[in-house]
Amino acid sequence: MNIPGSGVPEPASQSPALNVSGVSKSFRQKGQSLQVLDNVSLTVSRQEFVSIVGPSGCGKSTLLQIIGGLIRPDSGSISMSGKPVTGERGGISYMPQQPALLPWRSVEDNVILARELKGAARGAAREEARRWLAKAGLGGFETAYPHTLSGGMQQRAAFLRALLAPQELMLLDEPFSALDALTRSDMQRWLLELWEENRRSVLFITHSIEEALLLSSRIYVFSGRPGTILHTVEVPFPRPRRDEITEHPEFLRLKRQMSEWMREEQAKSAAAARR
Ligand SMILES: Nc1ncnc2c1ncn2[C@@H]1O[C@H](COP(=O)(O)OP(=O)(O)OP(=O)(O)O)[C@@H](O)[C@H]1O
Ligand SMILES: [Mg+2]
Repeated sequence: MNIPGSGVPEPASQSPALNVSGVSKSFRQKGQSLQVLDNVSLTVSRQEFVSIVGPSGCGKSTLLQIIGGLIRPDSGSISMSGKPVTGERGGISYMPQQPALLPWRSVEDNVILARELKGAARGAAREEARRWLAKAGLGGFETAYPHTLSGGMQQRAAFLRALLAPQELMLLDEPFSALDALTRSDMQRWLLELWEENRRSVLFITHSIEEALLLSSRIYVFSGRPGTILHTVEVPFPRPRRDEITEHPEFLRLKRQMSEWMREEQAKSAAAARR
């Protein structure tokens, strides 16, 4: 227990995996300041699956880069398991929006990268990677180089790389956006089963409201730029979740409500761009 005024920190196990507190960020573009994030605060508890949805350009990827320590916020702070980590790298497993596989490493050697950096033996890591590659429909491509894969296949390999990394917190920036609808729904089901079996703490960015509702415990709905949190949706469906929940009246109600919010924000962004 945290005793007020005692200065005793909460034990790591009780602190959220991620706490973002009051983060704001501006960039300089063409000599002008562009505010991208405005006072964003959010939490991912341990073993929780949390999503962010919001209009294009509202600062979602920027926020992940701030959490990962690649960019410093102008104000606000990041902590993981109770430890302040603002501006520090190494604490997360990250799948960027562009798959960014290393072109000189084979698919399997890309997938094992984070483990290898943490000192795992290559042979054992490769063996595990091959099992996952087969499950992700990439069997037979283990020793191929990234440029010989389609965009969707590269995305799946990048996703596996994040999944097999040893860090507790995973940041996933639109991991399925380059996939066709059918593969995407297979990957969602696969991710859901996998995560329910082996819970990691996940912060997930998507443009798909349905995907966010299917996968998440909580969804933060962002405004247009500068991104702020407009709404927080607690998703009430029990786990394990299966496709049937997408037919549930409450699922459909939440989907309609969130689509309405997104339409309003997109209309505001479009009006601001015309001014
Ligand atoms: N390094 C940078 N320097 C200057 N401006 C930047 C930089 N990175 C991002 N921006 C600007 O910040 C804004 C937010 O970009 P960001 O990539 O975070 O948006 P996003 O919400 O992820 O959008 P999308 O949904 O399209 O991926 C954009 O206007 C972008 O031009
Ligand atoms: Mg983005």
